[in-house]
Amino acid sequence: MKTYAIVLAAGKGTRMKTELPKCAFPILKKPMIEYIVENIERSSIDETILVIGHKKEVFEDILDRRVMFAYQYEQLGTGHAAKMAEEALKDKEGTTLILLGDMPLINDKVIDKILQKHAQSDNDLTVVTTNFDNPKGYGRIIRDQYGNITAIVEHNDCTSEQKQIKEVNTGIYAVNNKYLFDVLPKIQVNKRKQEYYLTDIVEIMTTSYKVGTFVMRDNFRVMGVNDLYAISIAEKYLRDEINKMHMLNGVSIVNPETVTIGHNVAIEEGVTIHPNTTITGQSIIKKGAHIGPNTEIHNSVIFEGVSVKHSLVYDSTVYERSTIGPFAHLRNNAVIGRDNRIGNFVEVKKSSTGANTKAAHLAYIGDTTTGKNVNFGCGSITVNYDGVLKHQTIIGDDVFIGCNTNLIAPIKIEDEVFIAAGSTVTKDVPKGHLAIARNQQINKADYTKHLIKPKIDEK
Ligand code: UD1
Ligand code: CA
Repeated sequence: MKTYAIVLAAGKGTRMKTELPKCAFPILKKPMIEYIVENIERSSIDETILVIGHKKEVFEDILDRRVMFAYQYEQLGTGHAAKMAEEALKDKEGTTLILLGDMPLINDKVIDKILQKHAQSDNDLTVVTTNFDNPKGYGRIIRDQYGNITAIVEHNDCTSEQKQIKEVNTGIYAVNNKYLFDVLPKIQVNKRKQEYYLTDIVEIMTTSYKVGTFVMRDNFRVMGVNDLYAISIAEKYLRDEINKMHMLNGVSIVNPETVTIGHNVAIEEGVTIHPNTTITGQSIIKKGAHIGPNTEIHNSVIFEGVSVKHSLVYDSTVYERSTIGPFAHLRNNAVIGRDNRIGNFVEVKKSSTGANTKAAHLAYIGDTTTGKNVNFGCGSITVNYDGVLKHQTIIGDDVFIGCNTNLIAPIKIEDEVFIAAGSTVTKDVPKGHLAIARNQQINKADYTKHLIKPKIDEK
């Protein structure tokens, strides 16, 4: 028997008060919708239909070919949204799991468990419920005297008695696909909200189908995110869960409440992460690296034994044993070779450095390729931009670049070159040469005695 998922993500998310549609809002720098899609991919679900509408292009960009899209052009409620999957699913046999796009903490295990429970129960509809001490905002589960579910009532439609009910609708339903699209058109518009509530399928189906519930214990897994405060709570759960997983795998995290590690980051054992550090995107941190404090790493690979302190590393690679920082900035495909030292206030952009290269203080290295054993003196700059175009700097092996040097690109500095401090180098320098490109110093003898001294001692 095949299984399908319909994920509802067409709504605007008015309570978020953000430009981005709610289900695309980032949590640990990754759009919320990707969490649920990723977990569906890992689960036993065969096909996924994502219902989108408000700012649909945002979702098309994020998920491209990973799901099938169905479109809800007018946001007329969750019942109406689910109906938009009819085209894709109407003639199919199997079980359909309906999920909401705003539950980022759900995982594949929970999804499979729900499907398993539904299959065992022989239900036509299984409503997944849970209990919250503070159930405000959720639809409440109404049961009859035998404990059977009879309806779901939205928070704002509840009587004050119903508001006391702690058992809530998670928004997840497993339903026999054969009946789903017969039932959905029977939903009447809610008078107060002028929306079609998916929750009404419970009342409709209890008359002639078998309806049951699956009560989940871990309520945080199915929390719905409706506003920016809830985003912060979801983020905290995810952060704690991810950090714990890494610590149990042998990663030492100092003051983990201040450390944020993204969902897709791989960290090998023997790594130490210091406070106030964020590692996100498709990053890999290899054995024995020390990351932080006060460091951000995104979409980057850090090799064995590297240390990165007080620094930013985006879309870059740092090879074995190099030290980065304090206060360095690597970006846009900076590739730092092994045993480098990239130190205080050094920026490296779209450049690669050979082994044993050093830029210890105050340098800008952009659009540059260097060989091994290159020394960038304090204040050296690759002048890569002429106001219109960016140009390349190529530096060979064993090059010494004196302090305060400008290398005006495009330029090639061959092996074993020595550039005198304070030079502005505009022409290529051949192998083994010394380049001095600055005004010659003039010393004037006995000069200062002719200067009129300021009469500071006079009253
Ligand atoms: C919904 C449930 C509520 C449940 C709660 C669980 C309904 C009527 N209410 O309430 O019982 O306790 O989730 O978190 O279903 N969406 C569309 N099209 C629309 C409207 C919404 O695709 O026209 C999508 C949204 O993008 C969102 C999801 O459906 O991802 C849920 O919508 P939301 O407005 O957050 O529903 P809740 O009020 O939280
Ligand atoms: Ca919600």
